[in-house]
Amino acid sequence: MNRYLVTGGAGFIGSMVVRLLLERTDRVVVVDDFSSGKEENLREVASGVDLRAADIRHFDRIEGHFRGITHVFHLAAIPSVPRSITEPVPSHESNIDGTFNVLRACDQARTRRVVYAASSSAYGDTEVLPKTESMTPDPLSPYALQKLVGEYYMRLFTTCFGVETVSLRFFNVYGPRQDPTSQYSGVLSVFMSSLLDRRAPTIFGDGEQSRDFTYVEDVAGLCLKAAEAQGVAGRMYNAGNGGRYTLNEIWRELCRMEGVSIQPKYGPPRAGDVRHSQADTAAAKRDLGHSPRFTIEQGLKQTLDWYRQSLKPA
Ligand code: UD1
Repeated sequence: MNRYLVTGGAGFIGSMVVRLLLERTDRVVVVDDFSSGKEENLREVASGVDLRAADIRHFDRIEGHFRGITHVFHLAAIPSVPRSITEPVPSHESNIDGTFNVLRACDQARTRRVVYAASSSAYGDTEVLPKTESMTPDPLSPYALQKLVGEYYMRLFTTCFGVETVSLRFFNVYGPRQDPTSQYSGVLSVFMSSLLDRRAPTIFGDGEQSRDFTYVEDVAGLCLKAAEAQGVAGRMYNAGNGGRYTLNEIWRELCRMEGVSIQPKYGPPRAGDVRHSQADTAAAKRDLGHSPRFTIEQGLKQTLDWYRQSLKPA
């Protein structure tokens, strides 16, 4: 019988992976240190979740939780480009040391498959779009480098230790439960809360930078497919939608959906930022059966509806 563990399972993306897993099993182990994850992200599925508070930076505190686990989804991380510049030490420790610890624990527990949340930031600024897996990486921030090191460790644990791993380079995931309140929050969560408060968001740079915004349920669905696919151990795939939208376009679209007109403020560009990002999804479709279901309009609408409900004063 398969037994699943999700690191970072109380987080924005991890809690969606847990929800999808609970459609096929009645118990999922979650290892989370609650640095950004929250118990309330798992509220209505709590009865199926075996929640273990533990920090992946400490091998001795996590290894026991992996015993008997067949499939691990490693999503625990400090997932911010700017935070890796302002606070490089915790970022390095979680994203590199923590990933190494998770892999050691998986090796020790004879885990069958590890699916890893890698990052499209590893590409840096490529001359050609969309970005394909064969391009040479060019990390522009500590975070991008750390996530790339994690990928290399995944591959090594397959080739040297026989742990099957699959790395998925996430492309700007958005959707319900993304926390808009931190200075490091993902841009769409910030846009949503600004819009609902009728406040102007601050766009860093000219707003013409673009991203392949990918709905959280599509990414979580791909994680589950990567856990089952045959003949892919040690490989890395893009986990994007294939589209590309500038921040200015998305803000205009959100204002249109809400029937308002609010001019954003513009600030200086952010250090470590990639200019454009767009996934080539062909390999993930071919080898993993990737089939994103949500158009940007559908994803934005569902997300906006969720924020409208969840940000409502009690
Ligand atoms: C995001 C993810 C990262 C993931 C990567 C994959 C978050 C927080 N980070 O990085 O984990 O690995 O995608 O591609 O989800 N911006 C503003 N105003 C704001 C916030 C951001 O203009 O208030 C701009 C940024 O300068 C950047 C763009 O929006 O140009 C996206 O920023 P952000 O949402 O932080 O994501 P990435 O840095 O692309």
